[in-house]
Amino acid sequence: MHLLHVVGARPNFMKAAPVIAALSRRSGVTQALVHTGQHYDAAMSEIFFEELGLPHPDINLGVGSGSHAVQTAQVMMRFEEAVLGERPEMVLVYGDVNSTVAAALVCAKLGIKIAHVEAGLRSFDRTMPEEINRLLTDQIADLLFTPSEDGDHNLLREGVAPEKIHLVGNVMIDTLIRLLPQAEKHWAQLSSRLPALAGRYGLVTLHRPSNVDEPQMLQQIVSTLVELTKQVDLIFPIHPRTHRHIEQYGLGRLGSALHIVEPLGYLDFLALQRHAALVITDSGGIQEETTFLGVPCLTVRENTERPVTITHGTNRLIGQDMRRLRDEAKAILSGSYVASVQKPPLWDGKAAERIASIVVEYAA
Ligand code: UD1
Repeated sequence: MHLLHVVGARPNFMKAAPVIAALSRRSGVTQALVHTGQHYDAAMSEIFFEELGLPHPDINLGVGSGSHAVQTAQVMMRFEEAVLGERPEMVLVYGDVNSTVAAALVCAKLGIKIAHVEAGLRSFDRTMPEEINRLLTDQIADLLFTPSEDGDHNLLREGVAPEKIHLVGNVMIDTLIRLLPQAEKHWAQLSSRLPALAGRYGLVTLHRPSNVDEPQMLQQIVSTLVELTKQVDLIFPIHPRTHRHIEQYGLGRLGSALHIVEPLGYLDFLALQRHAALVITDSGGIQEETTFLGVPCLTVRENTERPVTITHGTNRLIGQDMRRLRDEAKAILSGSYVASVQKPPLWDGKAAERIASIVVEYAA
């Protein structure tokens, strides 16, 4: 059986790595990897391939940045040619980025089977581009691998046939479990590079359009973070889009109280999360990683497609309410923050093996 995996942006890489590795141990399976090139900077892409042990992409579509329509259309046009050349029996797509839905749509029209890894997550907020990507991909996928039970419920409610849905657990946590020992080795090196790590620190990431595209919102967030630095050092590995806007909106000087650093590789970032006193983020994946690590997480969003990080984990939604961000951060730092410390079921490092078994059986 010939399989094609499609990745495009940073959050795809840690999800695809364990699935490709698990399938490479199955007999009768050949695989190829397509990188759409949605993320192209070395710090957003290449370093992850090295650290995660991902094979070098067999095909790079070199799509790059653009409006949603341009980026999605470019992936579709270039991927169609690639998939016709490879003639796979099944294409595996990951997560919810533009590359995910673009590749899935091409396959659906060509009659090629689609497996969606990390299916069923819903924020119920259609202003998020990722929500549209998730909804559409799940409607046309043939195999849907969910990370948590809420995903199954969402899919059933949307009319997806139950036999297509498989609760397998969280592949991103497979990668975390495998690489945590290596990340710990990075810790000593990192702390000599970043003196702020000697004491208690918080870790910040922000890249969502709703937080970083509007000058007023970004200014409010940066001011609140700067205020928090009176209590705790804040390390801020910055997404290129956020960096550009901080400069464009004249917030560079205000933000100088934060320890702004270039985007980090997987191992450095995991080490930083593991040792942080708190994490402030608008990412999806970081809500899950902090839950697994038991690190308090404040999510600067009104909703989450990952509710288990709240019911089972350390995550709290603070919306865009900056007073709430200040109060919750203070509660964490004073030790009065209460969060559940259970790990969600099946976040056990074996999700990719379950996926491999189902894919192989499906083709038999
Ligand atoms: C994408 C995903 C988002 C994910 C995020 C993780 C979609 C709709 N969004 O958002 O779900 O959480 O990746 O990072 O697919 N840029 C660079 N270098 C790069 C990549 C991007 O400079 O290697 C800059 C460009 O200015 C680009 C902007 O970042 O215009 C946005 O990139 P894009 O891929 O469109 O979306 P992300 O915001 O990264």
